[in-house]
Amino acid sequence: MLDVQVRGLRVDDGSEVAAVVALARGEGWPTFADTAVLRRLAAAPGTVTLVAIRTGAPSLGVVGFAHALTNGHHAYLSVVVVAPSLRGLGVGRQLVAAVFEISGVQRMDLLSSPGSEGFYDRLPNRQVVGYRLFPGE
Ligand SMILES: CC(C)(COP(=O)(O)OP(=O)(O)OC[C@H]1O[C@@H](n2cnc3c(N)ncnc32)[C@H](O)[C@@H]1OP(=O)(O)O)[C@@H](O)C(=O)NCCC(=O)NCCS
Repeated sequence: MLDVQVRGLRVDDGSEVAAVVALARGEGWPTFADTAVLRRLAAAPGTVTLVAIRTGAPSLGVVGFAHALTNGHHAYLSVVVVAPSLRGLGVGRQLVAAVFEISGVQRMDLLSSPGSEGFYDRLPNRQVVGYRLFPGE
């Protein structure tokens, strides 16, 4: 397991924000690839925005990111991503655990991206049908 510290994103830290933007760009996720939007969402009430920082030397800085919306009882996990070269080392699992711990919620809902199902399958879960609604569609 890779040693990381998981803590809140420091929105005033330009290099930390840039690292998250780079992770989002790597996945082709436009929302979090926009610096202004990322800062706004990370500062929004009822959200938890975490980064995983690789500890020890050499420090590689931010190696993972998660963002969730919470009402303190249940949450929606909007995104979790780990740097491609460091996947399979337990960072994603630590990010999800930290969202649970920090938000204190009893359950978390999410929509998986193609290819990530195996990650969620390994976490305690119950599968339900999900919908994503859009205005006027
Ligand atoms: C999905 C993702 C966040 C997982 O992060 P990670 O750090 O690689 O996950 P972990 O190392 O904590 O994996 C935990 C377990 O899930 C497994 N796993 C992780 N990703 C998997 C995948 N895509 N398919 C199958 N199994 C996977 C690991 O092998 C590990 O299994 P184990 O407990 O038996 O050892 C990462 O692969 C990623 O960033 N993917 C691209 C972005 C994405 O799709 N995010 C999710 C949708 S928002």
